[in-house]
Amino acid sequence: MHLKPFALAFLAFVAGVSSKTTARSTCDPKARGAGLEAKQRSAIHDLAQIMFVQQDVRKAFNTYIPGEYINHNPSAISGREWSLEFLEQMYETPDISVSSLTALAGEGYGILHYRLMAPSAGIDWAIMDRLRFEGTCFVEHWDVVQTIFGNETNPVAFF
Ligand SMILES: *[C@@H]1O[C@H](CO)[C@@H](O)[C@H](O)[C@H]1NC(C)=O
Repeated sequence: MHLKPFALAFLAFVAGVSSKTTARSTCDPKARGAGLEAKQRSAIHDLAQIMFVQQDVRKAFNTYIPGEYINHNPSAISGREWSLEFLEQMYETPDISVSSLTALAGEGYGILHYRLMAPSAGIDWAIMDRLRFEGTCFVEHWDVVQTIFGNETNPVAFF
């Protein structure tokens, strides 16, 4: 691909703009007030976009899980670094994908429900994550993971 100089300048401009956008859109643990629930709704949707569509785990954590992170998953330990490392490694699986996604927020919590597939790693899971907000940041996590076998008796199993 041959890029003309103006195209390169444009890409550099876009990269500069998007890094500024990222910095501005970092969550605010002190966010309060009447508009908070709407901000939390947009935070959970943006987290889902960064994590599951862009598959940029580090950006998702830097933007929405910048500090304290209490994790109740029985195989995990608390602290953002542990989860960041675990998820970054998992999302390096080449054929990993997310589908059937629902993201919502209310009463101080965000919910993500989705199918995570990575056939090469034997992963086919229906996952529900519950995340507690502090302002527009996430500070606590619970999850439930179901294995999808494909032979379920319920014709509307999982989704
Ligand atoms: C579906 O397959 C799994 C794995 O082979 C098996 O453990 C399970 O009992 C099966 N379920 C049904 C409903 O047949």
